[in-house]
Amino acid sequence: MKVKVITISDRASRGVYADESGPEIARIIREAYPDAEISITVVPDERTRILAAFEDSADAGFIITTGGTGIGPRDITPEATREWCRMELPGIAETLRAESYRETPQAMLSRGTAGLKGNTIVINFPGSVKAVRLCAKTVLPILGHAGEMLSGGGH
Ligand code: MTE
Repeated sequence: MKVKVITISDRASRGVYADESGPEIARIIREAYPDAEISITVVPDERTRILAAFEDSADAGFIITTGGTGIGPRDITPEATREWCRMELPGIAETLRAESYRETPQAMLSRGTAGLKGNTIVINFPGSVKAVRLCAKTVLPILGHAGEMLSGGGH
């Protein structure tokens, strides 16, 4: 299983602070899928940079983004994700928001989405380490199954 983690943050991309959320996602996935090939990229909250990172990751089974899902003036992750994907996978985003709401009501402010292009599923997580911990654990059960289905396996 190939997973590309994309941290979307102006400040992390400028080195103002270290990206902790990307490595945390990688750690949680690796724990469940020790053979997974996981890489992490950090890009600023810029549509063209996000789309380019998606394009570079089109050979991955999963692209997981963290950050840029909120209501800040530069938050553009969901729009870029929708633009790149062929179809939306609303069930994933709905579940992440619902589970996250149990942790904090602020979860309602995340506009994260999920979608599919070719054999690649893109999933948006919020930016905080606390959020990615919960979201990564929530999607773990579908990673194996969805990966098999997309590579031609049955249910
Ligand atoms: N979801 C979980 N599980 N835990 C959190 O702490 N933080 C929320 C929300 N979702 C949070 C969460 C907050 S405070 C915001 S502003 C939104 O995600 C958007 O975050 P982002 O702009 O970093 O993507």
